[in-house]
Amino acid sequence: MTIQWRNDLQIDCGNIDNDHKALIKIINQFENEKTLIGTHALLIELSEYSKRHFYDEEKILLDMGYPEYHEHLVEHNWLTYSLTIIVSSFNSPSKNFDVSLIHSRAAKLLRHWLVDHIIAWDIPFRNFLIDRNKTFRANPLYLVSDFKAHRPCFSR
Ligand SMILES: [Fe+2]
Ligand SMILES: [Fe+2]
Repeated sequence: MTIQWRNDLQIDCGNIDNDHKALIKIINQFENEKTLIGTHALLIELSEYSKRHFYDEEKILLDMGYPEYHEHLVEHNWLTYSLTIIVSSFNSPSKNFDVSLIHSRAAKLLRHWLVDHIIAWDIPFRNFLIDRNKTFRANPLYLVSDFKAHRPCFSR
């Protein structure tokens, strides 16, 4: 079952969304990949891409003064760790390694791995950006130059 991108998952209509779409694409490719070599390569790609994405996202959170920054960072570390566990099962397969069984378990996990995080953790950050944007616009004492560029896709 492939993951479909939905507009309600949008965060910034920019780099964050582009990364999330790219990560979903890799996860969907993983779902349809049946060979051991292809599966392994996609897991490594997912691991590298997600580490870079988490790093960039954390930088934005910090830059925007997001109050849940540390908790969000812990969640990213947890996602990275759980992906490492999946990758390691493909790194050194045992004698009885059953690629289709491990693949279906990993695919099941990955179906929720990113989307649940976006819903539970990234969307609250989007809501923070929306509120921040609203406060900025309502306060005439703010200078335009003081307002950092990262904005949500839509305002409330
Ligand atoms: Fe995140
Ligand atoms: Fe994210």
